[in-house]
Amino acid sequence: MFSIVFFVGALLIILITNWLYNWWNPKCNGVLPPGSMGWPILGETLSFFAPNTTLDISPFVKDRMQRYGPIFKTSVVGRPIIVSTDADLNYYIFQQEGQLFQSWYPDTFTEIFGRQNVGSLHGFMYKYLKNMVLNLFGIESLKKMLPEVEQTSKRNLQRWSLETSVDVKDASAQMIFDLSAKKLISYDSEKSTENLRESFVAFIQGLISFPLNIPGSAYNKCLQGRKKAMKMLKNMLQERRERPRKIQTDFFDYVLEELQREDTVLTEAIALDLMFVLLFASFETTSLAITLATKFLVEYPLVLKELTEEHEAIIKRRENPDSGLTWNEYKSMKFTFQFINETVRLANIVPAIFRKALREIKFKEYTIPAGWAVMVCPPAVHLNPTRYKNPLDFDPWRWEGIDTNGASRNFMAFGGGMRFCVGTDFTKVQMAVFLHSLVTKYKWTPIKGGNTLRTPGLQFPNGYHIQISEKEKASIVSDKEDTHASQLDG
Ligand code: HEM
Ligand SMILES: *[C@@H]1O[C@H](CO)[C@@H](O)[C@H](O)[C@H]1NC(C)=O
Ligand SMILES: *[C@@H]1O[C@H](CO)[C@@H](O)[C@H](O)[C@H]1NC(C)=O
Repeated sequence: MFSIVFFVGALLIILITNWLYNWWNPKCNGVLPPGSMGWPILGETLSFFAPNTTLDISPFVKDRMQRYGPIFKTSVVGRPIIVSTDADLNYYIFQQEGQLFQSWYPDTFTEIFGRQNVGSLHGFMYKYLKNMVLNLFGIESLKKMLPEVEQTSKRNLQRWSLETSVDVKDASAQMIFDLSAKKLISYDSEKSTENLRESFVAFIQGLISFPLNIPGSAYNKCLQGRKKAMKMLKNMLQERRERPRKIQTDFFDYVLEELQREDTVLTEAIALDLMFVLLFASFETTSLAITLATKFLVEYPLVLKELTEEHEAIIKRRENPDSGLTWNEYKSMKFTFQFINETVRLANIVPAIFRKALREIKFKEYTIPAGWAVMVCPPAVHLNPTRYKNPLDFDPWRWEGIDTNGASRNFMAFGGGMRFCVGTDFTKVQMAVFLHSLVTKYKWTPIKGGNTLRTPGLQFPNGYHIQISEKEKASIVSDKEDTHASQLDG
C-alpha cells in the first residue's frame, strides 16, 4: 500500500517538475530571447497590469529592457509572448502582416470585442470590411463631414462654458460619441430614451483589467456592458430593417443594403461586432487625446500661444470671419499637426499591439517559435531618447526637424503596415477642429483631477475638470495676460 502511494506521489512530482521545467524553458529550435516566464500559469500577468502614474515607459517594460535588452520573452494572460521594443523588429512585424505575422489579441480581448471584430478577421473578409470603414471615415467622407464636426465642437464648447466645472474627459467622450454614433447609426443621445454610451462606460472601466470573470469584477462588468450595448445595437438594426429609409445616410443603411445582396459575405453578427468596435474605437481613444492635449495647453503656455496664433491667423485671412472652416484651412494647420503628433506620441493610447508568429521566425540572434504571440511596444519607441531628445518633454517643435524618412519606424501611435489605424484622419480632423474652436474663442483654468494612470492603458482616474469661459473679443494682448494669470492661479 505504502509503495503505491509512494509510487503515485513520485510520478506526480516528476510530471509536475517536468511541466514546470517546460514552462520555464519553452521549446525552441534556436535561441529564445532572454526573459522570465514568471509564475506557472499566471506568468508575469500581475506586474504587466500593475498601475503606475508615470507617462514614461511602463516599469514592467522598462525594467526588463534594462535587464534583458530590447527583445525579451514573458508570459501574460496565459500566453508565451515575445515583447519587442526594437524599432527594426517592430517595423518587420508590421511589414510582414499576413505573411509571417497575423493580428492576434488575447482571448479576453476577443471575448470583449466579439469574435468577428476587425482585428481578428483575416484575408478577404478583412479587406472587405476595411473598405466599408474607409468609405465612412476616409478623406472624401471627412471633407463632407468638416462643417458638422465644427458645429458639434462649437455647440459643445458653448454648453461647457455655461457650467462652473466640466470634466473634459467625460464631456469630450460624449461629444465624439454623439458625432460617431450619428454617423454610424443616426443615434441621437438627446432624443433617445436609452443611453447607449452608458453601456460603453461600464464596458471601458473593465477593458484593460485582469481577466477574472466573477460577479462584481471589473472584467465581468465590462462583459455585461458589452452585452447591453450589443442588444441595443441589435434592436436598432432590427428597427431599421422594419422601417427602411429611402436614401442611404448612415452605416446601418449601408449594412442593410449589403445584407440584402445575394452574393454578400457580410452577416448580421459581423456587422454588429464591427459597429461595436467602431463606436468604441472612435470615442474612447480620441477623447483621451483631447483631454491630454487640453492639459498640455495649460502646462505649456508657449505652446498655447503658438497654437492660438496659428488659428487666429486662419480667421484673419478670411473674407468673412464667421464662415466655417474649409478643407484648405484645415490642411494649413502646420503647428496643429505637430501638436497632435506630440500629444499622441506622449499619450501612447495603445500601449501594446499584438501579433502572432505564423511560422518560426529568425530575427538577429533570436528565434521566435511558430505560434508565439508578439507584442509591439509603441511607448518604448516613442520615448526613446536617441530619437526623441528629452522624450518626456512636451515639445511640438521637435517635429519640425524630424525627417519623415523612416518616420514609420519611430512613430507608431496609430500602428503601422497594413493594419494602420483607419481612424487616423478622423481623429486628426476632430482634434484639429476642436482645438480651433477652443483656442480662438475660449480660455480655461484647471479645477481638479488631470492626474494620469497607466494600467497599462492611459486613464484619467479623476477625470480632468476645468472651468471654461469665452475670452473677450479684444486681442492677443489680453489673451497673454489671461494665460499668465491662469498660470499663477495654477
Ligand atoms: C487617438 C486616436 C486613435 C489611436 C491612438 C488609435 C490607434 C490605433 C492603433 C495603434 C491601431 C493598430 C492596431 C493593430 O495594429 O493591431 C488601430 C487600429 C484601428 N483603429 Fe484606431 N486609433 C485611434 C482612433 C480611431 C478612430 C477614431 C477609429 C474609428 C473610426 C479607429 C478605428 C480603428 C480600427 C477599425 C482599427 C483596426 C484596423 C485594422 O485592423 O486594420 N481608431 N488604431
Ligand atoms: C511606479 O513604478 C515605480 C518604479 O517601478 C515604483 O517605484 C512606484 O511605486 C510605482 N507605483 C506608482 C503608483 O506609481
Ligand atoms: C507626424 O508624424 C508622422 C509620422 O511620423 C509624419 O509623417 C508627419 O509628417 C508628422 N507631422 C508633422 C506636422 O510633423
